[in-house]
Amino acid sequence: MLRDEQKLIEYFADAPDDISLSDVNLDNLPSHISVIMDGNGRWATRQGKERGEGHIAGISSLREIITACVRLGIDVLSAYAFSTENWKRPQHEVDLLMHLFATTLLKELPLFHQENVKLVFLGDIEALPEKTREVFEQGLAETAGNTGMVLALAVNYGARAELARAARTLAVRVARGDINIEDINENAVAASLYTAGLPDPELLIRTSGELRLSNYLLWQLAYSEFYVTDTLWPDFDRWELLRGIKAFQGRERRFGGVKA
Ligand code: FPP
Repeated sequence: MLRDEQKLIEYFADAPDDISLSDVNLDNLPSHISVIMDGNGRWATRQGKERGEGHIAGISSLREIITACVRLGIDVLSAYAFSTENWKRPQHEVDLLMHLFATTLLKELPLFHQENVKLVFLGDIEALPEKTREVFEQGLAETAGNTGMVLALAVNYGARAELARAARTLAVRVARGDINIEDINENAVAASLYTAGLPDPELLIRTSGELRLSNYLLWQLAYSEFYVTDTLWPDFDRWELLRGIKAFQGRERRFGGVKA
């Protein structure tokens, strides 16, 4: 993706001692970066604040990472915001998150336009509270024509539910006679996922040190490089992102083959 070199340099000025823009190869950036934004609750608790304060701080981090990825010219940024399992949280926390999703999105829509960001959702957004769903649909409609970075927000997302849904979609198509059983191959499955048309993540970042996937993009992460940092999501910033990209660029990716 095209990037504005001047804006990029400005955005990554004032580097800390251990990392700077010159530490990453701008010609070998991951085309799709995905983040599991974890640790908002712990961040808040450590500061003696309510968990909700952690989510509010987490929004600022997401905003910074969206801007950083646009500046770098990343094609796709995806972020795990709410899982199908997160409904089990206390009702007031679920309500707050749904409220934050709606208000944040409305507030950020002008930024998305300014930065030419196209919004898509991964997950079942039909099942969200009405207000949140309406704002999401507005966001989809208003950014549909944007041609820059794709921001894929996983909300009410679970990878197993996504795979079961894809199986149903394909079964219906076979039953209708639209396709044959032999047509169900990897491409057909991939095209039936929420991520249809997007490249698989090349780099998965998880914050707060947890070493698990938590039902996230099980199919799409098959060959992704993982970068796990102990930093809690509200403390994750553009420099942490660069550290993740640098780690990615230091990996040898073989995709099951041998080194060329
Ligand atoms: C994980 O931390 C974070 C979440 C479940 C919510 C993430 C949502 C945001 C950062 C807001 C995003 C905003 C938009 C508009 C998509 P946790 O609560 O699991 O933290 P813990 O593991 O420390 O309890």
